[in-house]
Amino acid sequence: MQKIEAIIRPDKLSVVKAALEDLAHGGMTLTEVRGHGVQRGVTEQWRGRTFAVEYLTKIKVEMVVKDADVDLVIQRIVEAARTGEVGDGKIFVSNVARAIRIRTGEQDDSAL
Ligand SMILES: Nc1ncnc2c1ncn2[C@@H]1O[C@H](COP(=O)(O)OP(=O)(O)OP(=O)(O)O)[C@@H](O)[C@H]1O
Ligand SMILES: [Mg+2]
Repeated sequence: MQKIEAIIRPDKLSVVKAALEDLAHGGMTLTEVRGHGVQRGVTEQWRGRTFAVEYLTKIKVEMVVKDADVDLVIQRIVEAARTGEVGDGKIFVSNVARAIRIRTGEQDDSAL
């Protein structure tokens, strides 16, 4: 099992969700997050004034999936979330040691 954490632009959430529909049968967690990448904050214009925004709002999509699904999930997210401009986001993948469905006690792949 692996956990895929994708940090994406908020306005890409609906297209990413649609792209993952058939792969997210197990579930998905969404969190509104704030962060910065290589470019750090950006300078934005608002009501004629210029000001720096240190952290930008992004959406974190977390999915724990069986190993066989990992590459496909990554490919779908990249295709759906990409604009080609800076700030498209990032995907982090890590191993998950165990999973348990609380209602039934099922474990690991059966619990996803
Ligand atoms: N190394 C990192 N660790 C944790 N979070 C990160 C990391 N890099 C990026 N993020 C998160 O991803 C969001 C989007 O990052 P972003 O796409 O700007 O990355 P980047 O490396 O600057 O790439 P790009 O040059 O395409 O903008 C950040 O706002 C932050 O929340
Ligand atoms: Mg960036």
